[in-house]
Amino acid sequence: MSVRNSGKCTRVPGTTPPQLRELRDALGMFATGVTIVTARPETSGPVGMTVNSFSSLSLDPPLVLWGVSKRARSFEFFVSALHWAVHVLSVEQEPLARRFATAGLDKFAGLPLAAGLGGVPLLDGCCARFECRAAAAHDAGDHVILVGAVERFRRDDGAALVFRGGKFAITVDSTQGGWQFDGAARQDNM
Ligand SMILES: Cc1cc2nc3c(=O)[nH]c(=O)nc-3n(C[C@H](O)[C@H](O)[C@H](O)COP(=O)(O)O)c2cc1C
Repeated sequence: MSVRNSGKCTRVPGTTPPQLRELRDALGMFATGVTIVTARPETSGPVGMTVNSFSSLSLDPPLVLWGVSKRARSFEFFVSALHWAVHVLSVEQEPLARRFATAGLDKFAGLPLAAGLGGVPLLDGCCARFECRAAAAHDAGDHVILVGAVERFRRDDGAALVFRGGKFAITVDSTQGGWQFDGAARQDNM
């Protein structure tokens, strides 16, 4: 396997730390939306984390997936959860994205919450929301891929928050000049 890096090709055999950094930077060129995934474990309060590995997977049956890091504090809770909800964030929700990417905070403090399927905490003000029943879990290196069957969803208007190159961004119509970045500091906790 190899990746192009500033015109030169970087091989990735044993991936020493410097190569990991370059690989991560290269992977970061792939722009994604930003989501918060929440769950309500039986043995703890609500859990949630900012996630950009979310992807649609199948329409029939309706399946989505995301990857949870084995280093996340909430890892065990998400892997054992029977239900979880994916919130596709709007540009106004960048502060929430930062909050839910910070381990050790009381992430839900002061937020208006509704209870979804399985008691999963639901956030307001998103572009879209998918309430899922856990369908499969696949071990994948330092992550586990969680597949969920969409049991309920909603879509609202609004511009979606984007993540690319370690920065939050907003999209503008390509006919109006391409990408705009907010100049935010690099996020190193992905
Ligand atoms: C834009 C962005 C995307 C992220 N995507 C993921 C992801 O897909 N999977 C993951 O496990 N962590 C992801 N993270 C990191 C987690 O949000 C972060 O480690 C969080 O603190 C984990 O919560 P916990 O340790 O309280 O469980 C992302 C962080 C950012 C800023």
